[in-house]
Amino acid sequence: MTKSVNDERIFNEDIGDSSYPMPIDTEEVYRLKLMHYAIKSAWKGNFSAPIKEALERGNAKILDIGCGSGVWIREMAALYPSSTFIGIDISPTFQSDSSPTPSNASFQLCDIHNGLPFNDNTFDYVHQSSLNGGISKTQWEPHIDQIVRILKSGGYIELQEGDVGVNNENENKDMHLIWEALRGFLVDINSFKVIIPQVKNFLESRKQLTNIEFNSQFIDMAVSAGKPGECARISYKIALSTLRFLLAPRMNISNEEYDALVKSSFDFIEKYGGGYTCVRCFARKISSKL
Ligand SMILES: C[S@@+](CC[C@H](N)C(=O)[O-])C[C@H]1O[C@@H](n2cnc3c(N)ncnc32)[C@H](O)[C@@H]1O
Repeated sequence: MTKSVNDERIFNEDIGDSSYPMPIDTEEVYRLKLMHYAIKSAWKGNFSAPIKEALERGNAKILDIGCGSGVWIREMAALYPSSTFIGIDISPTFQSDSSPTPSNASFQLCDIHNGLPFNDNTFDYVHQSSLNGGISKTQWEPHIDQIVRILKSGGYIELQEGDVGVNNENENKDMHLIWEALRGFLVDINSFKVIIPQVKNFLESRKQLTNIEFNSQFIDMAVSAGKPGECARISYKIALSTLRFLLAPRMNISNEEYDALVKSSFDFIEKYGGGYTCVRCFARKISSKL
């Protein structure tokens, strides 16, 4: 892997045509774990699809796409020791986490846009969380078709995505500026600026998927939201600080001006609250033929 260093952060240069912009170092593992705990707390669990019984029965095969730090895979594998868990990612960020990997879990490097490297009808459950920045508008449908292909009949797909923005950002000019720049970046890389309604459309448009359920949760970043709120707030603040190298030039401002915008945005959230919506959508595969 070819690594590069920017703003003292480590990036993977071998990401092909992917425009996913985040680093792969231990600070990124820290951010992803905070985001994971915030999301898991809001949903009161790691998944919404009705798969608990199959996981407990054992011999279920589970895939996490774009597994990042690998925290979801490690937690799930420890909770369900008689099922098998595989995490895939374009970058070895999961190796930057020193947490032990249970023996029923493993990780593989792969670029999802080259197809998913598994046989048809392999998995009982495929989970994917927060990948909008790594998938362009035209890549989504072929990618979902790949997931459907590798799912067993009766198996479940579940997608989780969050809004890019904060519910009260129009009340603060600095907040609006910074999130508007982030949405502009997503538009430039041809990803969805507003991903949430699309998640359901993708699953509804696939003939082989049924029992589609779509639910949303508010990820509260307010101080009053306690520990989960703090995790959500810190992880988003780190994400925006990390993206300075991309967003400050887009906004035509200096690094110092950018840092001041991030600070004032999160000072506002600490004082007045704020949060964002995230959705989970899951569906069951009815037949093994595409
Ligand atoms: C925002 S992180 C989410 C990580 C994890 N799912 C979570 O919720 O904590 C997005 C992940 O998708 C991965 N990714 C982006 N583009 C990818 C691609 N083309 N193929 C595989 N993984 C990709 C990134 O490397 C990153 O680890």
